[in-house]
Amino acid sequence: MILFKKIDALQAFIAEEKKKGSNIGFVPTMGALHNGHISLINTCKQSNQVTVSSIFINPTQFNDASDFEKYPVTLEKDIDMLEKNDCDVLFLPPVNEIYPEGLKDLPHYELGYLETVLEGKYRPGHFQGVCQVVHRLLNAVQPHHLYLGQKDYQQCMVIKKLIALTGLNIQVIISPTLREADGLAMSSRNMRLNEAERKQAVKLSETLLFIKKEIKPGYTGDLADRCFNYLSAEGFKPDYVAIANADNLELLENWDGKASAVALVAAYLNDVRLIDNMLLN
Ligand code: PAJ
Repeated sequence: MILFKKIDALQAFIAEEKKKGSNIGFVPTMGALHNGHISLINTCKQSNQVTVSSIFINPTQFNDASDFEKYPVTLEKDIDMLEKNDCDVLFLPPVNEIYPEGLKDLPHYELGYLETVLEGKYRPGHFQGVCQVVHRLLNAVQPHHLYLGQKDYQQCMVIKKLIALTGLNIQVIISPTLREADGLAMSSRNMRLNEAERKQAVKLSETLLFIKKEIKPGYTGDLADRCFNYLSAEGFKPDYVAIANADNLELLENWDGKASAVALVAAYLNDVRLIDNMLLN
């Protein structure tokens, strides 16, 4: 695996590969890698001659300073995992390579409705930060294909919108959520859970499975409310439990039984915020 810290050197390498006709696939991450990340690397490798991954803990997407400070860092282990899984390139930029003019006066992206609901509503500024960094990473790597995880359902929609807004010619491929044996969605933040919290965390995916089993055409608000109350009673502090149209994230208070639907949840376990989602049909 080749490691680049500078955009210029990375771009020279990518340009050479493109001259040879290589397809370039890109898997951006914030590190603290787990098998969910590796599944994206593996999918990328199947359709690209060159797989590029990045590790960059993007300061501008953390609306909560303590979440940023406590974000797990396991760089040596990450590099080892990427090498063992035959990732070709790791882009590991310092902050001033991504934000040479500092963190103020960064561009604003017109994300519209997507920024007003769910993660957009509960993490103000978060998706602006995601767009700021992903736009820069995409300009640096210039991939043909971009690999994202369904685990961050709304983020996938936001990044597709960013690509449309900026006119970049990049195909987005979304991979299913990898889960632990008990159903908990793999996440870097799971590393912050203690043993008791880790056991409790499975209730998030169980709640989504419950919604999938129980949902019926008609009013869905009571089902979402019941699940919100259940998680609260079980010691979570939920931000939301929502049932939404899977294509545009409009909240589905009434479901016709046909529209593609997704259940989404975000909840704190003490000070760790976890998210998960599940397609319902
Ligand atoms: P991070 O949370 O490190 O996730 C990197 C990629 O891995 C994202 O596309 C995410 O959806 C995917 N991923 C995370 N957990 C997964 C799981 N259990 N199964 C499958 N895929 C999973 O998302 C980010 O970083 C950042 O916001 C980033 C896009 C890199 C911009 O900073």
